[in-house]
Amino acid sequence: MAKYYITTPIDYVNAKPHIGHMYCDIAADVLARHYRQQGRDVLLSTGVDENSQKNVEAAEKQGIPVQQYVDGMAETWKKAFDDMDITYDSFVRTTSKEHEKAVQAMISAMQAKGDIYLGDYEGYYCVGCEEFKAEKDLIDGKCPIHKTEPKIIREKNYFFKLSNYRDQLLQWYADFPEAVQPASARNKMLSYITDEIQDISISRQSQKWGIRFPNDEEHAVYVWFDALINYLTVTGYPNEGYETWWPADVHLIGKDIIKFHCAIWPAMLLSAGLKLPNTIFAHGFFTINGDKISKSLGNAIDPQELVEQYSKDVLRYYLLREIPFGSDGDFSFDRLKQRYNGELANGLGNLVSRTLAMVEKYEISINNPQEISQQGQELIQKTGQYIKHFSFDKALTEVWNYIAVLDATIDSAKPWELAKAGKTKEIEKILSEVVRGISAIGQALESLLPDTAKTIQELVTAQPLKKPSEPLFARKD
Ligand code: MSP
Repeated sequence: MAKYYITTPIDYVNAKPHIGHMYCDIAADVLARHYRQQGRDVLLSTGVDENSQKNVEAAEKQGIPVQQYVDGMAETWKKAFDDMDITYDSFVRTTSKEHEKAVQAMISAMQAKGDIYLGDYEGYYCVGCEEFKAEKDLIDGKCPIHKTEPKIIREKNYFFKLSNYRDQLLQWYADFPEAVQPASARNKMLSYITDEIQDISISRQSQKWGIRFPNDEEHAVYVWFDALINYLTVTGYPNEGYETWWPADVHLIGKDIIKFHCAIWPAMLLSAGLKLPNTIFAHGFFTINGDKISKSLGNAIDPQELVEQYSKDVLRYYLLREIPFGSDGDFSFDRLKQRYNGELANGLGNLVSRTLAMVEKYEISINNPQEISQQGQELIQKTGQYIKHFSFDKALTEVWNYIAVLDATIDSAKPWELAKAGKTKEIEKILSEVVRGISAIGQALESLLPDTAKTIQELVTAQPLKKPSEPLFARKD
């Protein structure tokens, strides 16, 4: 059976997850459910990035040992993904023994290739980004993302000869035009690789927290270098059998971390003699008044609160429909409510309840309510294609266009008037068409809105069919 390995970034655990983090995991979950439905053997990995200095600072603030802090936070994050029904198969923690082994194996392979050397580093470092910064990356001397002044660092570091991989990377981009998506990310990276690529520091001297550099206890492996390797840890690397899953079919990431994933990571893999991922897709940011939603800017929105107020599917619907995956967009509670009332309560919810209410009221028996018409097949096929191409908004739009078609079918046939005229056969024909259409909608939504799809499935298989005992989405005022 063909495999499908999909990864999400592993998050820093210096605070609780916000909707920006959950966004990527929801998208990954849609893909995972979709490919499982297609019969593929899926591995969905997520997890936490524990060796960061940010986590050390967060533990210090709480006055507890770092290990104890990250142990607790790993549970918090795992629970957040569980509560959202993210169907991950692997939850990786970078303080685990397996991960340490994978990191050390990869560094050894790169050392054997002659790609690692000891040098002096002097420059800026933003702990918020966990990134070495050049002067030109700063605005008024501050990191534009975290709005803080970076530290100045002077120390011995191990370096990776990234610049040696410039031509091979450009060749990879030329050979696989779909490897880095969307075009905005690809173009940015092509210009970075062409004009700016240089060797990078991959260790931090005297840093106590983090994976030890092979044969040099004084250095910790640079946290990004360690974190990227999690994608291999999950496959069992360096143990035999890791090729069952490697290379990844898709790395989903946020647009702020493209340099790490679309230049440094492929170069690391080339250096270690490993295959490159098939696709890397960078999504955009959720913003509030134009600022990235972020724990450090203090504008984070807790996904759990929205789930309590609405539901998991409502949050999934809003995040996936509001903004094309790959673009940025503002998060707005008003827009969420508008979409909820307009598209979920009045749109889908109303179609399902009025259709089934009429079936019940006019005592219509529907043969094969789950039989999918040609139009229904097309809907399922089209939504599947959109999902495959990361166009979740278009997949949902397609379903909602079909809801409008079914509503129009009812409105023009006016079953209530047919009932007055005693035209039972005609009512049966119209309502059968709509009920089967609803079944198709249920199938098309299986990976996008799994709870709603399940409810629809239960409603259309009930004997006899009857109006839902409570609305799928109750209107909110
Ligand atoms: N630890 C690194 C990732 C290592 S992967 C080998 C990291 N962690 S993070 O916690 O800062 O961010 C994790 C992911 O969340 C990133 O892909 C980032 O783009 C995403 N998001 C964080 N805030 C976001 C929004 N406001 N909107 C959308 N996604 C955002 O980076």
